[in-house]
Amino acid sequence: KMKIAVLTSGGDSAGMNAVVRSVVKTAIAKGCDAWVVREGYEGLVRGNANGSSDSGAVREDASFVHNLRFGDGELLKDGTGDYISGRTLKGRYIVRVGWDDVRGWFGEGGTLIGTARSTTFRTQEGRQTAVYNMIKEGIDALVVCGGDGSLTGADVFRSEWPKHVEALRAAGKITDEQVTNHHHLRIAGLVGSIDNDMSMTDLTIGAVTALHRICESIDNINSTAVSHSRAFVVEVMGRHCGWLALMAGASCGADFIFIPEDPPSEDNWEDSMCAMIQTHRETGQRKTIVIVAEGAIDKDLKPIRADYIKDVLTDRLGLDTRVTTLGHTQRGGAPAAYDRIMPTLQGIEAVDALLESTPDTPSYMIGISENKVTRVPLMEAVALTRSVGTAISEKNFKKAMSLRDPEFAE
Ligand code: F6P
Repeated sequence: KMKIAVLTSGGDSAGMNAVVRSVVKTAIAKGCDAWVVREGYEGLVRGNANGSSDSGAVREDASFVHNLRFGDGELLKDGTGDYISGRTLKGRYIVRVGWDDVRGWFGEGGTLIGTARSTTFRTQEGRQTAVYNMIKEGIDALVVCGGDGSLTGADVFRSEWPKHVEALRAAGKITDEQVTNHHHLRIAGLVGSIDNDMSMTDLTIGAVTALHRICESIDNINSTAVSHSRAFVVEVMGRHCGWLALMAGASCGADFIFIPEDPPSEDNWEDSMCAMIQTHRETGQRKTIVIVAEGAIDKDLKPIRADYIKDVLTDRLGLDTRVTTLGHTQRGGAPAAYDRIMPTLQGIEAVDALLESTPDTPSYMIGISENKVTRVPLMEAVALTRSVGTAISEKNFKKAMSLRDPEFAE
């Protein structure tokens, strides 16, 4: 009986809970046992300090979701489904779950099982502890939902797995039987990111919801902007990918858009921006919307900031200008229908990929292409993303980020 664990990693995105729900239910429906790992890779390293999640006192007065939301020390609901109930979450990061535990999760925003930036998982020791914690629970199949960094981490973890198993055996921490039963790690990756910044898939999980959120905000801004004949500079998320900014412009209207992939080619881009906006105003337009991706840069890779654009519009065109930074309102909240349906189908495919995995098959990323769920080699998708997927290269990205935020360079 395969034991499958699922974790979410990196920035949360709408639809991650639908992934967990789908993986858990599919795993159970296909005769496997299902586990969630809380707090991303950090949870794998921390494991179950209070013993296995197969032990613990039973209480019946608190639901699983309540406990995940409101913290440790609470107990799982004693449900009726095919799962082990009544487990305390305190000190337990790898938790066996059942059908009832994930009921209705597709409507929930964020990620209920938590996500964290793990520094320990970045070390060999950390990953070795993670292998030990998983083997202790009998788990050797992992679904990871996160961005390209998180998915690359999963592939590294998988390739190192046999080495760590051997070291743990040599140290007498695991038995020969455990070595035989867990000689390779099965992984499958799903792309959770609001930025839509992964190659070889048309849409990442959460991108549609974030775009929808941006559209609602810009629609709201439009009406107040028209009322006062004002200009608004709207900063949207997307790190080094301009998809959200570009699509927001296409869906809500914008006079000018700045994205990292296509920096303005002239030195004096301010002139062309002002000329364009002036023309729009002369046609009778009572509002001006400039959308700036948070990672927007000029041709020398220096950040183009919303406040600077505001000053240009105020000083050169005399426009009454405001800046609105949409921030994390774009990321949170209930998923759009698409970010419930797509992760559900992809979760099913992820479990199938695990069931069919052998030591010779590559780590797979589950994507979507022309409305069909796809299974593509994960590291090919990561490599393509880093070369051509987002036109700003890794090197330029690092340079641009250090110019923006000196701490980034350290
Ligand atoms: O990758 C998702 C994202 O929301 C980016 O758009 C943004 O740059 C980043 O995460 C913000 O990260 P944090 O929430 O850690 O500030």
